[in-house]
Amino acid sequence: MSRLVVISNRIPKDDAPAGGLVFALDELLSKRGGIWIGADDPSDSRKDGLKQIGAGAYDRFVFQLSHAEHEKYYHGYANSALWPTFHSRRDLMRHRADWFAVYYDVNSRVASLIANMLKPDDIVWIHDYHFLPLASKLREWKVTNQIGFFLHIPFPSRTDINALPEHTMLPDWLAAFDLVGLQTQRDVAACREYLRQTGEVELLISGGRVQRQHRTFAINSFPIGVDADAIAKAAGTAHADVAERVKTAGPLILGVDRLDYSKGLIQRVEGFGRYLDFYNSEGLRPTYLQIAPVSRGDVTAYQDIRQQLDEIAGSVNGSHADLDWTPIRYVRRNVSRDVISGLYRHADICLVTPLADGMNLVAKEFIAAQAPEDPGVLILSQFAGAAEQMEDALPVNPFDTDSIAAAIAKAISMPIDERKERYLSQSRSVFSEDIAWWGRTYLDRLASMAVA
Ligand code: G6P
Repeated sequence: MSRLVVISNRIPKDDAPAGGLVFALDELLSKRGGIWIGADDPSDSRKDGLKQIGAGAYDRFVFQLSHAEHEKYYHGYANSALWPTFHSRRDLMRHRADWFAVYYDVNSRVASLIANMLKPDDIVWIHDYHFLPLASKLREWKVTNQIGFFLHIPFPSRTDINALPEHTMLPDWLAAFDLVGLQTQRDVAACREYLRQTGEVELLISGGRVQRQHRTFAINSFPIGVDADAIAKAAGTAHADVAERVKTAGPLILGVDRLDYSKGLIQRVEGFGRYLDFYNSEGLRPTYLQIAPVSRGDVTAYQDIRQQLDEIAGSVNGSHADLDWTPIRYVRRNVSRDVISGLYRHADICLVTPLADGMNLVAKEFIAAQAPEDPGVLILSQFAGAAEQMEDALPVNPFDTDSIAAAIAKAISMPIDERKERYLSQSRSVFSEDIAWWGRTYLDRLASMAVA
């Protein structure tokens, strides 16, 4: 089997926060082996070369950036320009030429480091928006290996992406990969439509192929999954302890998200407030437990969302709390994965209501953690990529906070037979299209591009 070389900005380190990408790739590489290259914590000065940080089921290497580079590449271009643009928030997009220059330079440097260590039959798999130009830079180093790309976030609409001054380079960047993997069919449609309007490619009919000058590459969807068996096991083990810690007087409603404006947290709290105001006809005392660890806290838009969430959660609690009841418990600290699995199992309802989201693995983890004989209810935004596969979740439009309130009311009173039916249908895809399936399907497709 060829060696797999994975590149992503975030790489697991003992103390570092993680998102869906890190959990998914760690699960995949632990089983398959290979090399993972990512960014080290920034230091006072830039250091050249790759540094090994761990070996085991797979080897980990990091490239090192100075604080100034990290600021412009990560907080600047990646998370203040690309992230909002790709999440339909052009209004939050900030653009500076020097951010892009450093982003581009980091990609060039990482390309030279990788080009130096590649063996001829290595398979290279690059992840996410931090590395859009990386394959084009590797091709400049005459790298002819198979290079795949997977975008974990949504592919933006034509209108949004046109707001990004550097989008004119995107067709070149994409065409340097052999396979562009996206989360959903909706993303594939958006990407093909964008490329079509540039007029620089020929969209071939078969297999999502695209021809650009002398190169043919493919754009396909590969909905990312979770290690469902491991989550089910962890949930079973952690459940009793967690239930003991989280005592509630009524139903438990759970949310688990990075504190990010794309997650729809403000609308979610507002929706819960509207449930308490207008839809709670039985006068129940539910607890909404929101776990939202701080993310990208140096970026202004993230500081703003944190402040807004503090205010609205305080206001809903102020209006409804009693001496012996706090409706919203809002936890910003990191909570371990095992405890979260136990919480999923213990919760009656999980609220996954992003305004835009590539996939959202919380939706899948929640289903994986349920007890089949007494499953909880997933309320799922129509704008999460997961909604394409999980049609039997309770759908909501997160911009319509009354639809969130109505969904909570419906979920709370849902009969056990309906809960089981919905769970069964969702669990089928969650357990069969798991993380191993995702990795296998993607890598098989990438291999097929070599012989095409
Ligand atoms: C999303 C992105 C990942 C990113 C994660 C956490 O899942 O797709 O690329 O790693 O968020 O964000 P952070 O900026 O902390 O790495």
